[in-house]
Amino acid sequence: MPADLRGCPTGSDVPAARAAAEQALWRMMSFYDVPLADLDAAAAHDPGWALPHVMKAGFLASLTEPAVLAEATAALATARTLTRDAPAREQRHLDAVQQVLDGRWQAACRTWDELLLEHPTDALALQWAHLWDFYRGDSPQLRQRPARALPAWAEGDPLRPLVMGLYAFGLEENNLYAQAEDAAREALALDPRGPWAVHAVAHVMEMQGRHEEGGVWLRQHQAAWAEGNGFACHLWWHKALFRLEALDTAGVLRLIDTHLSGAALQITLNRVDAASMLWRLHLLGEDVSALAAAVADGWDTAEAACGYYAFNDVHHVLALLAAGRVAAAEAWTARCATRALDAEDARRSNHPMSREVGLPLMRALIAHARGAHDEAAAALYAVRGTAQRFGGSHAQRDLIDLSLLAAAARGSRRDIGRALINERRLAKPVTPLTRHWIEQMGTSELAYS
Ligand SMILES: [Fe+2]
Repeated sequence: MPADLRGCPTGSDVPAARAAAEQALWRMMSFYDVPLADLDAAAAHDPGWALPHVMKAGFLASLTEPAVLAEATAALATARTLTRDAPAREQRHLDAVQQVLDGRWQAACRTWDELLLEHPTDALALQWAHLWDFYRGDSPQLRQRPARALPAWAEGDPLRPLVMGLYAFGLEENNLYAQAEDAAREALALDPRGPWAVHAVAHVMEMQGRHEEGGVWLRQHQAAWAEGNGFACHLWWHKALFRLEALDTAGVLRLIDTHLSGAALQITLNRVDAASMLWRLHLLGEDVSALAAAVADGWDTAEAACGYYAFNDVHHVLALLAAGRVAAAEAWTARCATRALDAEDARRSNHPMSREVGLPLMRALIAHARGAHDEAAAALYAVRGTAQRFGGSHAQRDLIDLSLLAAAARGSRRDIGRALINERRLAKPVTPLTRHWIEQMGTSELAYS
């Protein structure tokens, strides 16, 4: 049985096909360009090999972009015609991607987990399980899954620094900041082309209130992520987040203008970042309605997109509300609710995400936009403790706390405002952004030195 560079059984004995698939794998893990041309080359070199088609389907599905799901489904159907001689490992990958396409993300992660127990150096399983652990909000697995595999990796493997980047981000999402930063810096010392490791350190600095240092960090590594890399948009978002922490709203708007608007927004995940940042500015009283309207207008609102993934759905509501379109936000929420209650669709992982987090959150944000600040504060406070279930990072979900601070400041729930500020000032130094919310609460007891 042929094997890949790490000894994992593979269905092709054509060296050129395996080399092209390896290059595609590197692209998927490093985000340098998309892997589709390499996968087409792999399929052309070995037309009987199923895995390149499975990889294409899984890559497309990983974008959380319903518009490309038909293409992903077609690629998987092609793969299914080619599996007669495929090793069990590649058939299991096909099964996992099918589970993803069926919306059964947890089942897919279990399938990859079984694969990794047998093949801890299966980079494809590690990468995909990590992404869907992230989408499912499974923080423990973000750390534990790469930890279970890393010791099996050879020191010189060119993909090992990228696996270390996965591990570093998992450590960060489990609040192990010093270990996360060490792992990411070690990964980048081995290979500086590791945006996921750069990203892990950016998250550490965000969580620790090191916003000045964070801006410097991203600038130092800009050559490794800003050009030709699919992760650029998100790292520009992180750069904007550091400026926001310093209350440099003009700086944030400059970054939005250059990197988080217009043609820079290619897919929904890019629009999620743009909406997230515009919402934060909106909460600070900035008029971003025109920018938010442009983001909302670019959103895929087709039937298949509505209720596909609660995390994305909420961000569409943020764009609509920042644009002043409250009725449109209500209509979108009602459409998402209909799908979340659709019994035929009930095995989709998004169902509980929508019911438990997405819908309550959207309704709370709409209440805030309607001026029902106390109702919004109570509802946001109720959902924040379980919001990790709809995925994203701590830094992304901080939009809930920021919304809650705004609702507490504009309504009468100073008790909630005080509680949240207490959390923030123990988690990190009092930054200009935190000081702003202290001042907005308007009570002397919050005037910390
Ligand atoms: Fe991030």
